[in-house]
Amino acid sequence: MIITYAQIDGFKNLSGISFEPDPKYNIIVGQNAQGKTNLLEAMWIMSGCKSFRGSKEKDYICLSGNKMTSKIKVRDSVREQKIEFEMFRSQNMPKQIHLNGVKQKGARALFDVFKCIAFIPDDVDIIKGSPEKRRSFIDMAASQLDPVFVLHLNKHNVVMNQRNALLKGIMQGTSKPDILDIWDRQASREGAVISYMRNEYISRINRICGELYKTISGGEELLEIEYKSNVYRSEDFERPCGEEAVEQYYRKIRDNEEYDIRTGSTHVGVNRDEIAIKINGVSARDYGSQGQIKSAALVMKLAQAEIFMKRSKEAPVVFLDDVMGELDEKRQRFIFDMIKDMQVFLTTPNEGALLPEIKGKVMRISGGKLIDEQDDISSYRE
Ligand SMILES: Nc1ncnc2c1ncn2[C@@H]1O[C@H](COP(=O)(O)OP(=O)(O)O)[C@@H](O)[C@H]1O
Ligand SMILES: [Mg+2]
Repeated sequence: MIITYAQIDGFKNLSGISFEPDPKYNIIVGQNAQGKTNLLEAMWIMSGCKSFRGSKEKDYICLSGNKMTSKIKVRDSVREQKIEFEMFRSQNMPKQIHLNGVKQKGARALFDVFKCIAFIPDDVDIIKGSPEKRRSFIDMAASQLDPVFVLHLNKHNVVMNQRNALLKGIMQGTSKPDILDIWDRQASREGAVISYMRNEYISRINRICGELYKTISGGEELLEIEYKSNVYRSEDFERPCGEEAVEQYYRKIRDNEEYDIRTGSTHVGVNRDEIAIKINGVSARDYGSQGQIKSAALVMKLAQAEIFMKRSKEAPVVFLDDVMGELDEKRQRFIFDMIKDMQVFLTTPNEGALLPEIKGKVMRISGGKLIDEQDDISSYRE
């Protein structure tokens, strides 16, 4: 899939941007704080996903403006579609999403329309960061693959908020414990499905990562990604996610209830899951070198792209934010080999740090504006 047209205005510092990207490589060049990442982000949000850099939606709108718009056209093997995303500063104007001119209820409608994947320097946090970072990596990837997963996650969040509020109430003596069971039942139903879906996604990503990591490490090293469910042992996943699995989840919650009430929050379940990432049998987080951690994070993202492709027969658009210059030649070549058939947008403050074989349309950005191509005879890197 490729972006054939983009128009952005009022998104953070960006103004008056419109361009037709190259179907292959697009190189966005600019000094620090000029709007390179913002430009990727303004396209990324058209996938219906939250910002890859964790920005809040209200911060999408330019500080000195009242409105942001981002429009793109995306073409896949079937057709070209137009996505429009508008937000307003005014509290009573909800965000507007249009697909082919038809108003959509929410961003979720875009999941199936535009698929993209972003590589950012912070990706190493998938390995180095808290368990929450790993869970959200897996959850975001699994959601893009199967929108049903998001429904379960959202439902589970709602149930957890209710349950935790009630636990606090019980702790303070203002609520009675008898309704807790309603939330326990619902949490178990959602939690069981989420656990099974996480398990499935992680086993798939593990198989692909193993292969890729072998290649990037010259055949020497073994990368393993393993789901550490808070409720189930790995053999439990061999039976289907039915009543028995829900019951097991429920028992786990009940067994811990006293402690939950005493502390006023939930301590078991999918919110406590971990994803173990090991290189040659030991924790990458604790024992990996910088280079191993960087490679492992890269491979996990590339595996995500491969799973997309297999699933939808459609390559995602790839965003590389400031990562190429950071990587040595071997790793740059490895990535480029993997994404050579995809449309790529990459940002860099320094074109000179890119591999010479990375050729394509060069867009220069300064103060949130693209520098007019007509004035810029070198807008293709040959
Ligand atoms: N809501 C906003 N309104 C206006 N400017 C913003 C907003 N959010 C961020 N910026 C500006 O965007 C710029 C950073 O853009 P960014 O895309 O991160 O730069 P870079 O080119 O380094 O990737 C900064 O100048 C920052 O002040
Ligand atoms: Mg940046």
